[in-house]
Amino acid sequence: MSAPTIILNNGKTIPQIGLGTSPLNDKEVVPLVVAAIEAGYRHIDTAYRYNNEKGVGQGIRDSGIDRESLFVTTKLDGQFQGNDRAIGGLDESLRRLGLEYVDLLLIHWPLPQRNEYISTWKTFEKLLEAGKARSIGLSNFKPAHIEKLLAKSTIRPAINQIQLNPRITRPEQRSYNGEQGIITEAWSPLGAGNDLLENPTLATIAAKYGKTPGQVVLRWHIELGIVAIPRSANPRRIAQNIDIFDFALTSDEIAAISSLDTGDEQGVDSDKTGH
Ligand SMILES: NC(=O)c1ccc[n+]([C@@H]2O[C@H](COP(=O)([O-])OP(=O)(O)OC[C@H]3O[C@@H](n4cnc5c(N)ncnc54)[C@H](OP(=O)(O)O)[C@@H]3O)[C@@H](O)[C@H]2O)c1
Repeated sequence: MSAPTIILNNGKTIPQIGLGTSPLNDKEVVPLVVAAIEAGYRHIDTAYRYNNEKGVGQGIRDSGIDRESLFVTTKLDGQFQGNDRAIGGLDESLRRLGLEYVDLLLIHWPLPQRNEYISTWKTFEKLLEAGKARSIGLSNFKPAHIEKLLAKSTIRPAINQIQLNPRITRPEQRSYNGEQGIITEAWSPLGAGNDLLENPTLATIAAKYGKTPGQVVLRWHIELGIVAIPRSANPRRIAQNIDIFDFALTSDEIAAISSLDTGDEQGVDSDKTGH
């Protein structure tokens, strides 16, 4: 199975399902990246901070896939904010990955108390210009942070990767991203191993389609136009997580899943935390 792509505001495309890789280490991630690519994934999500970029790069090479057909994201955390530090950070990420460019480079957290994300973004614009990142974007940015960034920047972020699943649906944040032409990408799209997938509403819908609750949740993301990066250390579930393009949810089912929302306060607050 392969995932459909979404067109970003710069004309490039991103596959709607990607493999999440945190907290897998360099050794664990290699065969899982190979399994994902064999199952049809063309999108892998990593970060400098995950300390697994070497393994991700090894998995990509072991799979034998052509680089141009793959979408690779990395993220730079707070140690690379400000003073053009992102230049050295991305060079190190590329060295670890064994790649010449990433498809998407994200500011991992806004860290608003440091007040350096605008200067970091200006460095990202240079990295885009240099061809080391084909698209640049954000992670964990709230509308107020994006508003400030847009006022001072030339390039519009392509993506905002945020914590998002049926328990934390973030409708205001999603609409804001949409109004700004920024695609929303979900981290912890399955609820990160909490009891979300045991919910009876999901079980009923899953039984109707002969799918698993995890597949139903991922299909819900797809129906809402979200990019999702589920992580699994199990090759069978990795394959399952992209096998979601042969059924569709009704609008009532989408609404029922969205109503599992327990509010933003369940989520990580990027005004108070981050790295
Ligand atoms: N930008 C950020 O700040 C940020 C923060 C956190 C995460 N992320 C990214 O987002 C990715 C995904 O988030 P996440 O890893 O927190 O959580 P997740 O993908 O929502 O959930 C992962 C958990 O779900 C289980 N799972 C996977 N597929 C399943 C299925 N089909 N049925 C049942 N259980 C299933 C996995 O267990 P098994 O391994 O046993 O299958 C694992 O325990 C990360 O790996 C990382 O790349 C980004």
